[in-house]
Amino acid sequence: MSQRVRKAVLPVAGLGTRFLPATKVIPKEMIPVIDKPVVQYAVEEARAAGIEEFIFVSAEGKESIGAHFSAHPSLEKQLSDKGKTAELKLVRDTSLPPGKIHTVIQENPLGLGHAVWCAWQLVGDEPFVVILPDDMVLSKTPCIKQLIDAHARVGGHVVAVEDVPRDQTNRYGILDVLSEQGSLAKAKGLVEKPAPESAPSTLAIIGRYVLDPIVFKELDKKTKGAGNEIQLTDALNRTLSSVPFHGLRFEGIRYDCGTRVGFVEANVAFGLAHPDMEPRLRPLLKKLLEE
Ligand code: G1P
Repeated sequence: MSQRVRKAVLPVAGLGTRFLPATKVIPKEMIPVIDKPVVQYAVEEARAAGIEEFIFVSAEGKESIGAHFSAHPSLEKQLSDKGKTAELKLVRDTSLPPGKIHTVIQENPLGLGHAVWCAWQLVGDEPFVVILPDDMVLSKTPCIKQLIDAHARVGGHVVAVEDVPRDQTNRYGILDVLSEQGSLAKAKGLVEKPAPESAPSTLAIIGRYVLDPIVFKELDKKTKGAGNEIQLTDALNRTLSSVPFHGLRFEGIRYDCGTRVGFVEANVAFGLAHPDMEPRLRPLLKKLLEE
């Protein structure tokens, strides 16, 4: 029986340079898709999967992320005094319980592997989740829950994967597949951002992971990889002789909010998934496309 997965690590230290000037003062993760900051979708997905504790690996100047998930007594009082109960609920629902939210500052941008390593002390020796908020997933069952359920069956590391066009393998961690069973692909190797001609497959890791804590010992070696960064994929690759690694072809659609086009696509998709907005949005989009 595998240990229950209770903690999530959210790397949010990036500068968000692709979204400047929007990200000059506002963290990229705080930019809204429809009516919620991108990072709130990640937290809600994790909470719906039973995650109780959140570790944000952040950077100086991005304090608003932690504030967004903490109580806001003055705003709550004003809303309460005005009898705005629905709005009060929206604000309160965003707060995580005290003691269940932690922020670690990643002082230098040394890579995703280094960001995850920064959370070691707070995660300890138990399986944990990593969520990259830029990847948003629309699905019936929260993507993280799908991974946790699979992890309960196979243990080790379980990550969300999807096939990408071969000319895009150099943007992702790619699996060298040993065998496939149903929606699970067992990997015998992992490569970070391989060139299309040398990629072992087109099965790419997207930003959802359930990881065995063994990965911290590898990350602690601080070995640099692609882009001269400490890569999570490389550290995971070096644990494959100790724990199994499975990619789960999850049910749902992923939107890459790390690019401007992906961000617009996510807004449209999440807008259409909103029962209040869909009936008005759909004809508007049709009209726009006809013009
Ligand atoms: C990171 C990981 C990569 C993964 C990707 C998913 O890359 O290093 O393995 O496939 O996230 O979005 P990044 O997008 O930070 O370059």
